[in-house]
Amino acid sequence: MTDTDLLPKVPIQHDRRPPTDMVREAEAFAERMARRRSVRDFAGDALPDGVIEAAIRAASTAPSGANVQPWRFVVLTDPARKRRLREAAEAEERAFYDRRASPEWLGAIAGLGTDWRKPFLEIAPAVIVVFEVHQGPHSPKPYYVKESVGIAVGLLISALHHAGLVTLTHTPNPMRFLNEVCERPPEERPYVVMPVGYPAPDAQVPELTRKPLDEVMIRW
Ligand SMILES: Cc1cc2nc3c(=O)[nH]c(=O)nc-3n(C[C@H](O)[C@H](O)[C@H](O)COP(=O)(O)O)c2cc1C
Repeated sequence: MTDTDLLPKVPIQHDRRPPTDMVREAEAFAERMARRRSVRDFAGDALPDGVIEAAIRAASTAPSGANVQPWRFVVLTDPARKRRLREAAEAEERAFYDRRASPEWLGAIAGLGTDWRKPFLEIAPAVIVVFEVHQGPHSPKPYYVKESVGIAVGLLISALHHAGLVTLTHTPNPMRFLNEVCERPPEERPYVVMPVGYPAPDAQVPELTRKPLDEVMIRW
């Protein structure tokens, strides 16, 4: 690297706040995030204009290996396109639940009560399909793709929750059919499917517990 390859530097934008404010805000954020749940029963209500775009802008601020930003967010709102998505996903999921899934895998998800039916892919007002972007004619070689896209999806989930919406991290298996449904080139690899909207009025979620802090955090 020569001096001319170096990016110019700009001052970091950071407001140092009083410690008590920091703790209060960190705790409030943790409580807010604790109320996030994966939802599988959606209402069909339309979304406010701009909310999906803002959430994707937040996701796109994620750090990424070598700043390649190897993600693509395809937003499906067209009913015909969502129906194609549902039909293709259900065909794969039916084969998964009937034949491909190991008994061990089926056992692990049994408590969630999921099956091959995915009506939420049609009912939710928007479905975001996230792709990893690998090297291709118009995209550079990325580094740490899965880690980078995973962080971006974490921000996306948080941004949607923060905006008062619900979503689900849905991973049909296998996922290659998504390239055709979303008209994306082969160097883009499907990562996750996220229906986005409001819960149906009678929506229920499995009663789950989260591991306590002393189980997930180690301090020396
Ligand atoms: C990588 C990943 C893949 C997932 N795939 C599916 C899926 O295909 N179908 C589904 O119903 N839930 C899926 N989930 C949702 C999990 O079942 C859910 O996050 C977990 O049960 C915890 O519930 P919570 O999100 O409400 O806290 C997935 C979650 C993750 C993180």
